Amino acid sequence: MYDIAIISGDGIGIEVMNACEYLLDKLDLNFHFEYGEAGYECFKKNGTTLPEETIKIANKNDAVLFGASTSTPGQPSPIINLRQALHVYANIRPIKSYKGVNCIRDDIDFVIVRENTEGLYSQVEYGDENKMVAERVITKKASERIAKAAFNLCIKRGQSKVTCVHKSNVLKKTDGVFKESFYKVAAEYPQITAEDYYVDATAMYLLTQPQNFDVIVSSNLFGDILSDESAGLVGGLGLAPSGNIGDHNGLFEPVHGSAPDIAGKHIANPCSMILSASMMLDYLGEWEISNDIKNAVEKVIADCNIRTPDLGGDASTIDVTKAIVKELI
Ligand code: NAI
Ligand code: MG
Repeated sequence: MYDIAIISGDGIGIEVMNACEYLLDKLDLNFHFEYGEAGYECFKKNGTTLPEETIKIANKNDAVLFGASTSTPGQPSPIINLRQALHVYANIRPIKSYKGVNCIRDDIDFVIVRENTEGLYSQVEYGDENKMVAERVITKKASERIAKAAFNLCIKRGQSKVTCVHKSNVLKKTDGVFKESFYKVAAEYPQITAEDYYVDATAMYLLTQPQNFDVIVSSNLFGDILSDESAGLVGGLGLAPSGNIGDHNGLFEPVHGSAPDIAGKHIANPCSMILSASMMLDYLGEWEISNDIKNAVEKVIADCNIRTPDLGGDASTIDVTKAIVKELI
């Protein structure tokens, strides 16, 4: 029996979470779901985008599934605050080309490991009407911790190279620490190739030679931007899952947001949410079922018959979910 916290959020977050729950209910596993509120609708109701109660629920369960939230003017981001509250410092974002999808190449298989707790996402900004400052905090401790997570993941995935992405030619102090910490940790993994690129060059290499990456490790904002770019290489945000892992918690969510442009139309691609649930099951040690879900998603996408409009089809969220479930059982 697994106790899972479910935080659906807003917009298509709710739609893809419903689809995900439908699928989880069909598995040969027992789940107990506990629900928490977060996001814009939650703010309108409770005056906060992330109630204490939600953090409590997220902390005490075996894992957390998060949908997506719509940003609330003048309020902090609930997902950033939740990641910080749960100390899930490694944001793991796999990028893979799937058969049957219009990808830039068919041999892309890398993962972005994004530092989740500091950088420009500290949400510390101050100033006056003439000048605003955003704090970009980079510590040795968090940089070494995320580098370790990247090397360990590289070994787990059976790959051979970790690429550190930074901008230390300009951000000499902050990214100087990030890069130095990376190479310090790299010395403990002599069997893995360690290299580093500037973030701007990486943005180009992702387009010109994405097949050459295995594991990319970067700071919070760079990792966020590069992961949306990378999702675009392999069919878009509808196929981009993620996991946020710490020493005591795991929080799993699609890379995408609440997509107000398609919310309510029931056409959101559920695959990124379902693949995030597959990452959750891997985290919980249910490797076989986790793999089965990945394979079922791959099969349904490859078949080309039942797919949502973002992948060129006309199926609904639940049509695709049912097709994946049919492959599974
Ligand atoms: P978005 O990720 O919601 O949407 C970007 C584009 O991708 C849209 O055209 C959307 O229709 C499409 N898309 C996203 N997910 C899809 C799916 N599953 N199936 C099919 N198409 C999909 O990003 P956007 O539009 O920049 O932000 C919308 C709201 O979401 C904002 O309020 C933003 O702050 C919030 N946001 C929340 C995140 C989170 O909760 N983790 C992450 C990113 C944005
Ligand atoms: Mg993002």
